Amino acid sequence: MVCERSNILIIGATGYLGKYMVKSSLSLGHSTFALTRPLKPDTDPSKLQLHKHFQDLGVTIFHCELDDHEKLVSVFRQVDVVISTLAVPQFLDQLKVISALKEAGTIKRFFPSEFGNEADRVSALPPFEEVLQKKRKIRRAIEAAGVPYTYVSANSLATYFIDYFLHPQQPCNDVFVYGTGEAEAVFNHEEDVAFYTLKAATDPRAANRLVICRAPENTVSQLDLISSWEKKTGRLLNRIHISEEQIINFSQTLPHPENVRAAILHNIFIKGDQMSFELSGEDLEASQLYSEYNYSSVDRVLNTCLVNPAEVKLTTF
Ligand SMILES: NC(=O)c1ccc[n+]([C@@H]2O[C@H](COP(=O)([O-])OP(=O)(O)OC[C@H]3O[C@@H](n4cnc5c(N)ncnc54)[C@H](OP(=O)(O)O)[C@@H]3O)[C@@H](O)[C@H]2O)c1
Repeated sequence: MVCERSNILIIGATGYLGKYMVKSSLSLGHSTFALTRPLKPDTDPSKLQLHKHFQDLGVTIFHCELDDHEKLVSVFRQVDVVISTLAVPQFLDQLKVISALKEAGTIKRFFPSEFGNEADRVSALPPFEEVLQKKRKIRRAIEAAGVPYTYVSANSLATYFIDYFLHPQQPCNDVFVYGTGEAEAVFNHEEDVAFYTLKAATDPRAANRLVICRAPENTVSQLDLISSWEKKTGRLLNRIHISEEQIINFSQTLPHPENVRAAILHNIFIKGDQMSFELSGEDLEASQLYSEYNYSSVDRVLNTCLVNPAEVKLTTF
């Protein structure tokens, strides 16, 4: 696939989604950079190994605290595109990133850490609403700073949620169903989300736009997902229904972050918010934008989980 080569920096590259971004950036032939926190004597050895692995693959690593404004500016001046996959607790730290991007003044595109529901068009129970508000605050700060951006709404990351619902690595006969299980949600494979992000990074059509991942083949209900899994495994699962009332109660009473998880499950699988609004002419749907790309349908992701459950949540290089 022809692709404009660029200098791509990933902040949060060592994380769950960040590793997919690094892999996709390298496979598209970009010069790839990772910004990670400085190593400490107690840094987990697996992280050291990952840094070494990145370097062996040709990734340039910058060690930098998000508080170090001058260094951030100097790093940003060496790249064209910045993709943030920082974790939820660090969302508001992206205000420091935006301030440095503005001062650098050279960045062609910034992707804030989003990769979930379309924050401007959904609303949720309080613990998840707080997260959405942070995403909106970051969006408004980017727009106010005049930094060129693309927002990627990935909806549900497929292997992340399949692992959560069906735990293919440790098969179990029980499965939780939230509400009736009939609300439709969108499951997109992590590799595809990373591919779309890296394609959008150099695509003028995606400048200052939202790219939303809502492929028709990936829009299924929780009950559809469970039935498909039963057919593939030849095992019938015992459905344990969690009512809307119960999940609201969990969102009000469980400690953080379980309360956030309950509110997310409510929003996606009971309220059905990922499919609660029509796409407008302004929205770029990823599978249409990159129609030549053979994305993974949910069915294909389930097949992979069946054949190789150990690979379900691992990013392999
Ligand atoms: N839609 C979905 O289904 C779904 C599922 C999962 C995640 N997501 C989204 O994907 C994005 C990334 O999430 P993730 O799960 O991949 O994140 P993660 O693995 O928890 O963390 C990403 C990176 O954040 C950096 N980080 C952690 N603590 C930090 C701190 N105190 N200061 C500075 N950096 C810190 C770390 O990088 P270093 O240690 O290298 O500095 C870490 O590797 C988020 O926006 C999340 O909401 C979406």
